[in-house]
Amino acid sequence: MKILISDKLPSAGIDILKGVQEFEVNCQFGISPSDLKEIIKDYDALIVRSSTNVTADIIEVAGKLKFIGRAGVGVDNVDLKAATQKGVVVMNTPSGNTTATAEQTMSLILALSRNIPQACASLKSGKWERSRFVGVELYGKTLGIIGLGRIGSTVARMAIPFDMKLIGFDPFISRESAEENGVQLVSLDNLFRQSDFITIHVPKSTETKSLISDKEFDLMKKDVRIVNCARGGIIDESALVRALKSNRIKGCALDVYESEPPDFDSELFRLDNCITTPHLGAATSEAKLNIAVEIAETIKNALLGHGISNAINFPSANLARNIELEAKKGS
Ligand code: MLT
Repeated sequence: MKILISDKLPSAGIDILKGVQEFEVNCQFGISPSDLKEIIKDYDALIVRSSTNVTADIIEVAGKLKFIGRAGVGVDNVDLKAATQKGVVVMNTPSGNTTATAEQTMSLILALSRNIPQACASLKSGKWERSRFVGVELYGKTLGIIGLGRIGSTVARMAIPFDMKLIGFDPFISRESAEENGVQLVSLDNLFRQSDFITIHVPKSTETKSLISDKEFDLMKKDVRIVNCARGGIIDESALVRALKSNRIKGCALDVYESEPPDFDSELFRLDNCITTPHLGAATSEAKLNIAVEIAETIKNALLGHGISNAINFPSANLARNIELEAKKGS
């Protein structure tokens, strides 16, 4: 069975696959879309991180492909609909990045509350501006968490020792399970109205695109600070620029952008009340190792018929494959 790895992955993951006699593993990091389209027909499994876009036209010609492994959480670089229609199972690594992303979120909440990047830049430019950078404490403030899955609920647990009041919005979890993490469930509008800090932990989808735009900024407190370590575009960037420029909100910290790499001409990179980092949520040595091992084990087990785990589109893909097999049998 042939496995193609098209984005850089730590060797700990690659070695797991290379250690299986039945597997031939090829690494072609940074392969172009046209070259990928050319060679994908020979492969049983494809492993990607976020750089490879697995588009419908690539899936269409991938005659043998059974599994796509996404080393990471977000599967927005894989055409799920095309994969499902073709019976290709898409799997991710839901837990390997959790701590790293939750810690990055806490770092940005703290950086926002104490103006750390701005103060650092000011000092390095030879200024001693102690009164310019007076911040606020997290103690007693309300943190609104949008999305209480793995990362959102880990952020909640990390915020508890800071004595923050935790409120959250998540239509998919029960009041009881939110309360287990110290979070009181509220409506989205109430979360916007009550929060001093807001953090986003939902996937990007048609439902969550521009979840926060002008109307939502208007509901918020004037001194709210917002963090997005989830996906770009969940906050509408043009509306965000307007809110930051008019001091409609106090500040924002972005780790993710509507397009990546982002448009560097965007005013977001010139506004002093906007902290920016280049999609570093999962960028720790530990998380990279975790997801490499997790995806390798997942793909190994799936190819060897030892079970499918962390599938995004199974059983739908399975059903599509069975229908195809039945049709072949019948013809
Ligand atoms: C994820 O979805 O796993 C993180 O955002 C990091 C990445 O895109 O690789």
